Amino acid sequence: MWLRIKIIYHFIILLCVLFTSCIKKERVINFPHTDLSEVSIIPIPLEIKATYGGFPLDKYTAIHIDETKTDFKQVGLFLAEKISSQTGVSPQLKVNDSTESIIYINPSDTFDKDNPEAYRLEILNDSIILTSHTATGAFRGVQTLRQLIPNKANDTLAKNDIWVIPSGDIIDAPQFKHRGTMLDVARHFFSVEDVKKYIDILSYYKINVLHLHLSDDQGWRIEIKSWPKLTEIGSLTEVGGTKGGFYTQDEYSEIVDYAAAHHITVIPEIDMPGHTNAASLSYPVLNGNGKTLKPYTKMRVGFSTFDTRKDTVYQFIDDVVRELSAITPGPYFHIGGDESHVTKKADYIYFVNKVETIVQNHGKRMIGWDEIANTGVDSTSIAQIWRSEKNMNTAVKKGMKLILSPAEHAYLDMKYDASSKFGLTWVGFVPVDVAYNWTPEDKAPKANILGIEAPLWSETISTISELEYLAFPRIIGHAELGWSIKERRNWENYKKRLADQHIFLKRNNVNYYASPLVDWAKE
Ligand code: ACM
Repeated sequence: MWLRIKIIYHFIILLCVLFTSCIKKERVINFPHTDLSEVSIIPIPLEIKATYGGFPLDKYTAIHIDETKTDFKQVGLFLAEKISSQTGVSPQLKVNDSTESIIYINPSDTFDKDNPEAYRLEILNDSIILTSHTATGAFRGVQTLRQLIPNKANDTLAKNDIWVIPSGDIIDAPQFKHRGTMLDVARHFFSVEDVKKYIDILSYYKINVLHLHLSDDQGWRIEIKSWPKLTEIGSLTEVGGTKGGFYTQDEYSEIVDYAAAHHITVIPEIDMPGHTNAASLSYPVLNGNGKTLKPYTKMRVGFSTFDTRKDTVYQFIDDVVRELSAITPGPYFHIGGDESHVTKKADYIYFVNKVETIVQNHGKRMIGWDEIANTGVDSTSIAQIWRSEKNMNTAVKKGMKLILSPAEHAYLDMKYDASSKFGLTWVGFVPVDVAYNWTPEDKAPKANILGIEAPLWSETISTISELEYLAFPRIIGHAELGWSIKERRNWENYKKRLADQHIFLKRNNVNYYASPLVDWAKE
């Protein structure tokens, strides 16, 4: 009798198991299948092959984290956190008995070592395999994966919510090593929290460089311990007469570390010999324009210069470059060098050559705005082209690498159109299509182009919301120009993918400009 009851009991259990597995099967069978090549990914990847199945992302998904590979593990934890904040479902961090689908993030040495950001994302019906030679490449792949997660859970027969990721194979790599943006924290100061929020959104679009413009006539923004008046005096002002601000070295390091966790390199810029009113106001010994120094809070520049023939000036620069280089792990130091209209030409050349040596002595590679090409700089220094084709050609003749920031396309501080609430117009309007429709790879010999950068000068903006209004959506197109090859880029197609970004931007509380050139997706 007991034996019969036991058999019946086991039979019922077996039926239950079979029934549950039927439900699970049904859940799989009823997935809505999206075409991977139709999903709005920005920047558009190199190759996308759709296989018309789907990977179920839900509470039974695990991210397989290899505890021995610390940098890949961090990428896995980053993905887990982003999935959880988008969907409300926290992926398991260990494969266990309830796991039904697995995301692998694995190192692989099958990639071209010259392109460390290359990655492959294979999406199967029960697993996702993300591989790259480096954690940075895996991090870029994670951004692609995030963009594939539907905005809402799919309508399936399952009891729990499931987000179906369309299956297929993505092979991807950037066309340029340097895909940056510059933020001017000198004309108006932006807090550490503001900069971190900007980094969050930039990294989603695979931007990998954040150049901080840390000093100008209107303010000095970084603590230099050996020259304390720079922040005691020079940091107090900003455009419009409002209170400025500065980063302590610890706060700067916090930004650098946060950027590094998003695989973004920070480049510090100290603009000189012009744009130096705030520095000279703090230490009048530096001043070379012979005028009485006053705090400056207007916009017009080009009136200030260091005294390029004083040893003290080079002692000062050596200290600044030394202190700032010590807390900057990236390989670059930007010395500005633009619009030094009151520095005599011979003095300018003498100055840039001396500063190049200082920068190199502190183990960094020098970057300067395109004017530096007219000095004796060597081919290891980099010219950032903002205005002058002549300077660009001079830099190419010297064998220098270029960062392309042509104002008429790449300046995020220009108004979009006559309706823009913020922005300048000296180069004309830069609408969203003009920001996208140019071909950096055709501007100069490709071998000379390190990459591109979109500067955001802050004369007319003072809050993160205003910053976002000018940066978004133009920076998203800029991210695609830096990453995707020209054969994959097309305004009509891009514009549709851009329209779909509206949900991500809204979810992250980004105050983008809803340009009428784009048919923004409704929820
Ligand atoms: C610049 O816009 N002055 C580089």
